[in-house]
Amino acid sequence: MALRTIRIQGDPVLTKVCRPIPEVTDRIRTLAEDMLETMYDAYGVGLAAPQVGILKRIVVIDIGDDNAYTLINPKIIEADGEQTGEEGCLSLPGLQGTVTRPNHVICEAYDEDMQLRQIEGEGLLARAICHELDHLDGILYKDKVEDGLYKVCLLYTSDAAD
Ligand code: NI
Repeated sequence: MALRTIRIQGDPVLTKVCRPIPEVTDRIRTLAEDMLETMYDAYGVGLAAPQVGILKRIVVIDIGDDNAYTLINPKIIEADGEQTGEEGCLSLPGLQGTVTRPNHVICEAYDEDMQLRQIEGEGLLARAICHELDHLDGILYKDKVEDGLYKVCLLYTSDAAD
């Protein structure tokens, strides 16, 4: 496994639409492992492939519920409810903003063994799924933010990640 470089806002790769993955090769499995390692290293709860410069439809998510999800060609097939809360992104370091998302989603995605699975998310998991899937279509949360972005104290965020 290896850490990959996280692309920062302004990098054109973050605004492109990603391509579906036709089959899960060893290269894709390595990418998924690297993305998880890179996400944990940066204290993130999710990471999408374009954030490491790869325009493929794959995201990883771990909100700390003892599940590390690798979602390949993910699609939201059901969304309901509403939540309004703070969001951040590893590609926009030191910033946060308020975004309204569905409070409950059902996502269909392939796993590393190319098995089609359904993941049901509420609250933070629903938010993370929506945020990461947006990345695959070149959408950043700042495009949906309600009252503009604001700076967060980095000391505070590293404490919160512990
Ligand atoms: Ni993000």
